[in-house]
This record gives sequence, structure tokens and C-alpha cells, in this order.
Amino acid sequence: MKIVSVVGARPQFVKAATVTRVLAQTPDAREVLVHTGQHYDANMSQVFFDDLNIPYPDYNLEVGSGRHGEQTAAMLRGIEQVLVNEQPDWLLIYGDTNSTLAAALAACKLHIPVAHVEAGLRSFNRKMPEEINRIASDRISRLCFAPTQTAYDQLQKEGLGQTAVLTGDVMYDSVLFYVEKLEHEPDSYRLPDTPERYYLATVHRPQNTDSREALFSIFEAFAQLPHPVVLPLHPRTKKYIEQYGITPRNVHIIEPIGYLWMLRLLLDCQKALTDSGGLQKEAYLVGKPCVTLRTETEWIETLHDGWNEVVSCDKEKIVSAALAPAPSAPRRNAFGDGRAAHAIVEAIYLTKSLAEG
Ligand code: UD1
Repeated sequence: MKIVSVVGARPQFVKAATVTRVLAQTPDAREVLVHTGQHYDANMSQVFFDDLNIPYPDYNLEVGSGRHGEQTAAMLRGIEQVLVNEQPDWLLIYGDTNSTLAAALAACKLHIPVAHVEAGLRSFNRKMPEEINRIASDRISRLCFAPTQTAYDQLQKEGLGQTAVLTGDVMYDSVLFYVEKLEHEPDSYRLPDTPERYYLATVHRPQNTDSREALFSIFEAFAQLPHPVVLPLHPRTKKYIEQYGITPRNVHIIEPIGYLWMLRLLLDCQKALTDSGGLQKEAYLVGKPCVTLRTETEWIETLHDGWNEVVSCDKEKIVSAALAPAPSAPRRNAFGDGRAAHAIVEAIYLTKSLAEG
């Protein structure tokens, strides 16, 4: 069976790594990996391929940055050509980026069945480009792999029950695999000059970066915290900090870093402060409290018992959530059994064999 997988942005490299590993061990499977080039800086892209042992992509479309329509259109054109050349049995897509949507559209017009990893997630905020990408990709997909029961139920509510499969979360597979690796290598992937006690933050969502008021408020909150804030700085945020003339205080800025470096920083931090979906979940999975710098979250399981608090960009709320004591209740396991990638590959094979009768 030939599968074309499309990735393009950081969170997709992490998700694809787990499935790629399982496909590589499946005798009859041949995976063709396409990188759209949405993320192209070495520390936003290559470092993930190196750290996670992802094979070199068979195609790199080198699409780069641009307005949403421009970027998605360039991907659509490039992916369509790859699919015409390769004639795969399935297209595999991940998450909710413009690369996800472009691939789904290209494949469905060529009648190639689409399998969507991390389906059924909803923020119910249609101003987020990711929300539109999720809804459209789920509609198009023949198989929607739900990471959680909530996502599975959402697919049912939207009339997509026939396509929904509850697999667990590939990011949980990944956390289990790599936390064990880090435990065996206690001195690896440690950044020099990291403060002893710190908060770990990431900020990159347009609702936070593209408004001077919002970004200013977040940095004002960081300035008031009792420990420094380690901030791997996304290029979009860097651009706006400079443009707005913000001078970060109590913030230890570093370049964007690879997955294992980030996981180590997370394991050693006091709390995570973030507007990323992935980091909210990773914090929960490794048992670090999280403060979410957004007005809603798709990952509602992380909210149980106070492990994640959604506070927006409001300065007072960020400070008060960051200072709150860590929750004492144990976390619940809502993200599967660590074998989501296996379940995904099995479901694709089963669907193919059922279709062939
Ligand atoms: C994208 C995804 C988002 C995901 C995030 C992870 C969409 C709509 N958004 O957002 O869901 O959480 O990736 O990081 O697909 N840039 C560089 N170098 C790079 C990549 C980007 O300098 O390697 C700069 C460009 O100036 C660009 C900006 O960052 O304008 C934003 O990049 P883009 O890929 O458009 O979206 P992200 O904000 O990264």
C-alpha cells in the first residue's frame, strides 16, 4: 500500500514521526513524505527531522510564508502534482494547518481517500484559521482519527460518525517514547544558561501577536512573575515585538528549539504559559500545570481539576493563574494508551481491505 503523508509546520513533524515509525515497520507499506515548506527555518523544521529521526522528505515544495490564500494555493498546486505522479492508495494529513487543508483538497478532487490524524477538535472560534482548516479537513476525510472521546463525540454530532475512529493521541505516543529517552540521557538536550526555576512560555497565535495591546499585556504579566520566563521566540512574535517597540522584562529569550530540547525544558519548568494547542497537551501529559493565553481551548480534557487554566491575554489573570498552587488531584488519562499510531495504521489497512471486499 502506498501512502502519501503531507507535513509542513512544526506540530505536524512531531505527530507524523510516530506514524512514520510504525509505517516503516509495516512490511507492505510504502510512505512518500511531502514537506510543503510552510516552516523552512532550520530551527523550525530540520531540527525536528534530525531529533525525531524522520526520513528526509521525498518532496519539498518550498512554499514558504505568505497570506493564507497565497500560501494555501501554492501548496494545493504542488501537492496535486505529487499526487498525480505518485497515485497513492491514501493521503495522510495531520492537525489543522494550511498544509493540512491544502493536501485534503488536492486529494479529494483526485478521488484519493484522505485519513486525518487529530480529527474532531474544535475551538468553536471561526476566526482562527486552524478552526476552518479542521472543519473542512474533517468533512473531506474518509477516515477521521479522533485523539479523545470528546473529539470522537464531536464528529458524531456533525454527522461524521461513519468516518470516525477513536485512536488515542499520537502526541501521547510521542511523549511516552521521548520522556523515556530523556530519562536515560539525563545530561542531553539541556540548554546552557537556563535559570534554575522558570516558567516556560510560547506565544505565536495571531490573536496575541497581531494586536499591540494583547502582546503588551502578555509581556507586562511576564514582567511581574516571581521567576524568569524562558521563551523560545517564534519568528512572527519576534517581528511584532520589534514593530511595537516592546522591551521584554524578566524574560529569557531563546531561538525556536527542537522537540527534545523543548520536552526537557517542559519537564524542568514550574508551569507552562502558552497559546499553543500542542504545548497545553504536552504539559498535561508530563504533569506540569498550564496557563493558556487564549479565550478557549480545543483540549478541554486538560482543564480537569485545574491542570490547565484558560485566561486570555489579560495581565491580572495571567499573573494570578501563574501564582496559583499546582493542582493536587491526579490527572485523568484521556489520550489513549500510547499506541495511537498503531491504531491509525491498522484502521487504514482494515478500511482498504473492506473496500476491496
Ligand atoms: C502555523 C500554523 C499553526 C501552528 C504553527 C506552529 C496555520 C494557519 N497555522 O502557524 O496552526 O500552531 O504553525 O508553529 O497553518 N516564519 C519564519 N520561518 C519559518 C516559518 C515561519 O520566519 O520557518 C515566519 C514568517 O514570517 C511567517 C510567520 O512566521 O509569516 C508565520 O508562519 P506561518 O507558517 O504562516 O504560520 P504560523 O504562525 O507558524
